[in-house]
Amino acid sequence: MSSSLETRDLTVRFGGHVAVNAVSCAFHAGSLTSIVGPNGAGKTTLFNLISGQLRATAGEVLLHGEDITQESAPRRSLRGIGRAFQLTNLFPHLTVLENVRLAVQARARVGLNMWSTWGSHRELIGRAEEVLETVALAARASVIASALPHGDQRKLEVAVLMALEPDVFMFDEPTAGMSIDEVPVILDLIRALKARRDKTILLVEHKMDIVRELSDRIIVLHNGTLVTDGEPAAVIASPIVQQAYLGVEMPASEH
Ligand SMILES: Nc1ncnc2c1ncn2[C@@H]1O[C@H](COP(=O)(O)OP(=O)(O)OP(=O)(O)O)[C@@H](O)[C@H]1O
Ligand SMILES: [Mg+2]
Repeated sequence: MSSSLETRDLTVRFGGHVAVNAVSCAFHAGSLTSIVGPNGAGKTTLFNLISGQLRATAGEVLLHGEDITQESAPRRSLRGIGRAFQLTNLFPHLTVLENVRLAVQARARVGLNMWSTWGSHRELIGRAEEVLETVALAARASVIASALPHGDQRKLEVAVLMALEPDVFMFDEPTAGMSIDEVPVILDLIRALKARRDKTILLVEHKMDIVRELSDRIIVLHNGTLVTDGEPAAVIASPIVQQAYLGVEMPASEH
């Protein structure tokens, strides 16, 4: 299996603090990799380095074998790295449908696949409606984004991401702040993405039951360093995960 995304000795320093320390890791299409580790381990920082929000002090990021380390975040996004941000991807004053339609349109402009033939407004709307169906938001299509409840806004954000059709999906605590009944929709979406077997999915999640169920592989970060990388059952049973999650995180984040 060829790697769609790879980091080589990826490192970032903040002053004297090495937040991500020489992380080398290859991620494969059709596979969901969870990144776990205690608070402050460097998980979000690693995401920032991959998506381009942050420039590396050293090391490389490769997408489909090409070095993208020097590229801006928007450029990486056009190339197919898709990251759900906590609501910052949304246009708050536009409707749910318009938000998704704009993403579909942006994707069509990239012109890399069949959507490029879907030029007409009607077709764009049709595709946007389809995406909204998948996130169970079709009934809210005409609601202004900022008027949605928080959980629906998060779902809309995932819809926007899906409409952009990236090769790499990055989710950083996708269910954080969601109510118990909203969580399954997001998990179903991630399951559906996984089922396609052509997307590279990276997930940061503190809830170990979710990690256990969704992951094909788990990597563990500790003080910015990749300390464990392997098959879920073995990694979850490892002392570092048992200590970090059973000792500190689990009681707070599991319900
Ligand atoms: N822009 C920054 N400037 C300085 N230090 C930073 C910056 N961003 C992150 N850090 C530091 O880098 C370390 C890693 O932070 P990061 O947010 O990546 O952790 P995390 O694993 O995502 O934690 P959590 O599970 O709490 O989300 C922390 O010590 C943090 O304070
Ligand atoms: Mg984080």
